[in-house]
Amino acid sequence: MTDAIVNPAVPSDLPGLPRQRGCPFDPAPEYARLREQAPISRISFPSGGSGWLATRYEDVRAILADPRFSSRLSTAAPHVRPAPTALPEQPLPGALLRLDEPEHARYRRPVMRAFTVKRVQQLRPRIQQIVDERLDAMERRGGPVDLVAELALPVTSLVICELLGVDYDDRETFHGLAGRLLAIESSPEQAQQARADLASFISTLVAAKREQPGDDLLSGLIAEADADPDSPLTDIAVTVLGSLLLIAGHETTANMIALGSLALLESPDQLAALRRDPALADRAVEELLRHLTIIQFGLVRVAAQDLTVRGLSIKAGEYVVASLPSANRDPGLGITDPDRLDITRDPAAHVAFGYGPHQCLGQQLARAELQITLTSLFARFPGLRLAVPADQLPFRDDMIIYGLHQLPVTW
Ligand code: HEM
Repeated sequence: MTDAIVNPAVPSDLPGLPRQRGCPFDPAPEYARLREQAPISRISFPSGGSGWLATRYEDVRAILADPRFSSRLSTAAPHVRPAPTALPEQPLPGALLRLDEPEHARYRRPVMRAFTVKRVQQLRPRIQQIVDERLDAMERRGGPVDLVAELALPVTSLVICELLGVDYDDRETFHGLAGRLLAIESSPEQAQQARADLASFISTLVAAKREQPGDDLLSGLIAEADADPDSPLTDIAVTVLGSLLLIAGHETTANMIALGSLALLESPDQLAALRRDPALADRAVEELLRHLTIIQFGLVRVAAQDLTVRGLSIKAGEYVVASLPSANRDPGLGITDPDRLDITRDPAAHVAFGYGPHQCLGQQLARAELQITLTSLFARFPGLRLAVPADQLPFRDDMIIYGLHQLPVTW
């Protein structure tokens, strides 16, 4: 398959993607009804047209693992954006999220090596050092502080900057770009401009590293390409990969740190269990990832051919939304009481990092950052508490990645 697939516009008065949360930690209650009564249902998209919504764990995994569902979308976030941006018909080289096999694997493989369990294990002491420095700064400064600005964003940004070889002093530039790329209400022009600005920022860096290589991932990818005439890693591909890693690498985990901290503060029994036994950190992180599922609107795929799922005919070109938040609360996940946050439970085989060939490439790094940051934060500040009433917190209902815009805390 070489051409991007276009979703035919179908006028409809169908319901949209459920978005109204009952509680900030839970997906919209409508998902539970859909899982029971209409596990694959037709929905309308805000910009017109329609698609399908899969809400059960089993179906979500099946869709994400099935090569007949393609990642070659022709519009960005069509299920939530009122005015979705048209994407270039041909995905750029290295644009992992928009490529299918076997092309996808050619670009993923060289990057994957930097994010294995072993490589991330080696990074742990440095991550701990970064976290400790930020906690020292918080302590010196005194509460109240915004945990997003003072801890979550700096930790994840510093780590990905050091890995990639991006100057942390440029953080305002790339934090701003992430905001423009991930806001649902960004107009097509704003989203396109943000993409172009990001590419220009990273391509300048790639050119500089070609002249003066460093001990970092971008320099490593350039050197690998130079050493291997069959490598797919052109400077454009390295730029596209670098852009993806920079944004995906800081924004997601930062939101999990903030939202995970809040979830623990709001569940004192769970927090007490973690404080009593820091060895629970691995389980706690896995459970928070599942329970909070910050990729809040799910993942979109497009049917590459006419096909049938649960007896329903899905036509080639139609979009299908695989709801990660719903799948992670499905009893079909095989855990008891999936709506309950229980950091002591055996880790569930959740889909917070997706599933199939595109499953999150940075998941081991995200886990390490979360484990280290959450345990160190609560050990350092035993009296940590919210500095504003919980109902005044600004949740990111308006962004592709859920979490908090700010989290004022004191101790
Ligand atoms: C808690 C934090 C994170 C969450 C919840 C998360 C979630 C996800 C999900 C759901 C996908 C699958 C997208 C799809 O199938 O279309 C994904 C892909 C990806 N993630 Fe993450 N992610 C996190 C952290 C990170 C970090 C720290 C990095 C980088 C260092 C990263 C880099 C990527 C990349 C490069 C992909 C694309 C993989 C591919 O298409 O082959 N992510 N992530």
